[in-house]
Amino acid sequence: MKAVVYKGPFSVAVEEVEKPGIQHPDDVIVRVTSTAICGSDLHMYEGRTAAEPGIVFGHENMGIVDEVGHGVTGLEKGDRVVMPFNVACGFCRNCAAGYTGYCTTVNPGFAGGAYGYVSMGPWQGGQAEYLRVPYADFNCLKLPRGDAHERDFILLADIFPTGYHGCELADVRPGESVAVYGAGPVGLMAAYSALLRGAKKVFVVDRVPERLQKAEEIGAVPVDFSAGDPVEQIRDQTGGEGTDKGVDAVGYQATAGASGEEEPATVLNSLVNTVRPTGALGVPGLYVPSDPGGPDEQAKQGMLLVAIGRLFEKGLRIGTGQCNVKRYNRFLRDLIIEGRAKPSFVVSHELPLSEAPSGYDKFDKRIEGYTKVILHP
Ligand SMILES: NC(=O)c1ccc[n+]([C@@H]2O[C@H](COP(=O)([O-])OP(=O)(O)OC[C@H]3O[C@@H](n4cnc5c(N)ncnc54)[C@H](O)[C@@H]3O)[C@@H](O)[C@H]2O)c1
Ligand SMILES: [Zn+2]
Ligand SMILES: [Zn+2]
Repeated sequence: MKAVVYKGPFSVAVEEVEKPGIQHPDDVIVRVTSTAICGSDLHMYEGRTAAEPGIVFGHENMGIVDEVGHGVTGLEKGDRVVMPFNVACGFCRNCAAGYTGYCTTVNPGFAGGAYGYVSMGPWQGGQAEYLRVPYADFNCLKLPRGDAHERDFILLADIFPTGYHGCELADVRPGESVAVYGAGPVGLMAAYSALLRGAKKVFVVDRVPERLQKAEEIGAVPVDFSAGDPVEQIRDQTGGEGTDKGVDAVGYQATAGASGEEEPATVLNSLVNTVRPTGALGVPGLYVPSDPGGPDEQAKQGMLLVAIGRLFEKGLRIGTGQCNVKRYNRFLRDLIIEGRAKPSFVVSHELPLSEAPSGYDKFDKRIEGYTKVILHP
């Protein structure tokens, strides 16, 4: 079968690889119909991680069940399903508590597994014609048959739940104001989720015009950080008070306003200054224990200079980490089915799998409006 294979920094190719088969009675094989490229894939693509050439990418996957292991009870051939990016067992201590992003079974020595991701276990990615899904009864979310809402449902694999998770971590409540840093797919989904949860005003900070435009389209207030300190811009629009809550949807690849230089702690520090005392921060943006490409010795070891004194002084709460997709995907699916949510506004491009190399290149450069790319094998 064809699959997107990592060749080395800034290079992927669509190559022939072995088609996966059932390896355990609890597996299913899914014929992939949609698979998205994620900002997290870019961390590997740019050569910032220990990902070795040969890995098949793809953790945002949906499709049609094609083969069913004899231990699977809730699925049959022909079912349309979307898989959380987290691979999870369903029975370990963390899964049982709903923390499926921290499953201790699927990736021994490291809590949490994912398809097609370095250090997240042996699970091959789904930017391919077929995907093997382990613990399939637990990991597949059934969708209505047919092809309705394909562009919305694919976003249930990661970014819609992850944006929602950012709001959950920040405890966004009706009537509150929220500052979301980052208008990439995750930030836009966080802003959209904040509005779904009844926020009165949502600011979205970025510098990419097409992305800020999308934020404005859904009713958020765009803030261009290249035009001036975003903290001040938001304070000016909140009577000097700042927002109730904040979401970091950028992570360690944050760049500083004027210079455009990478400054991994800049968004965390902006948030500490943007959110009013007693507020809370949700941090779905990714930080890593080591970043070989970090700008200084400490950043290379995943240590950042964060204004913890100010955080304490303001009594701010902070929540971090991988999204436990399974906590949210069922009710977010139902909002899509009922027409109450349409996250596909974020999708900018749909390409055949064969065009993955150009899709990666343009998404990585954030050019030509590339915001969220869906590949169709
Ligand atoms: N927690 C999870 O489970 C989870 C899941 C998916 C993605 N992520 C992470 O979420 C983050 C965002 O993902 P994405 O796909 O939207 O990525 P992305 O790279 O497409 O978007 C990041 C955006 O942040 C903007 N940005 C850079 N510096 C900024 C600053 N100082 N202030 C405001 N905006 C700034 C960039 O211009 C870009 O538009 C990544 O770190 C990704 O790894 C986490
Ligand atoms: Zn993703
Ligand atoms: Zn588990």
